Amino acid sequence: MTQNNSIKIQKCEKQHVESVRSLIEGVLSKEFPAEHQAYPPNDLMDILDSYGKLGEAFFVALDHGTVVGTVGIKKDDDRTALLRRLFVLPEYRGKKLGEKLVERAIDFCHEVGYDELIFKTTSTMKNANRLCEHVGFLMRARLDLGPIQLMKYMLNLKKTAGELSRKG
Ligand SMILES: CC(C)(COP(=O)(O)OP(=O)(O)OC[C@H]1O[C@@H](n2cnc3c(N)ncnc32)[C@H](O)[C@@H]1OP(=O)(O)O)[C@@H](O)C(=O)NCCC(=O)NCCS
Repeated sequence: MTQNNSIKIQKCEKQHVESVRSLIEGVLSKEFPAEHQAYPPNDLMDILDSYGKLGEAFFVALDHGTVVGTVGIKKDDDRTALLRRLFVLPEYRGKKLGEKLVERAIDFCHEVGYDELIFKTTSTMKNANRLCEHVGFLMRARLDLGPIQLMKYMLNLKKTAGELSRKG
């Protein structure tokens, strides 16, 4: 369990599932209505099942038991994981909680032994793009869809192993 002042990061449990869904749906509908329409929320219907296979995990950030942040790791293939559903409640942003969630997800990927981590975003998700660049992701593809661009970022996990262990 990771602790950051009063905020703890831990694996999602049954009692968090409903709050996870309402946090993500709430942020998407308010801040990213286009993405909300475009991407079916299938994985949110059953978080524990969707992220429950070997090599997968869903983490929540809890403030005194309340879900204030989320991140999921989904297996793409034996070498590659997908970072998904990185969300922090608006009133908790800008305090490095997003970064802590990404670091927990990266630690998990090292534990599993993945080689690379993929993060797909859009050009409107500016904070997420800055954050992933800040932790070392590199843009690998950009698809222009007129007003919006789809972006694919990649983190080489073999390179970050030493850096993370130095951080303790
Ligand atoms: C992306 C998100 C999770 C970031 O959460 P956060 O807790 O505010 O992020 P952090 O405080 O950890 O930021 C870490 C770093 O990211 C960068 N960053 C994040 N937000 C930034 C901003 N608004 N402006 C500049 N840099 C920013 C900075 O480098 C920052 O480090 P610094 O404080 O040393 O400058 C949050 O903004 C969010 O929930 N956004 C909506 C959902 C979303 O877009 N999810 C991605 C799609 S799955």
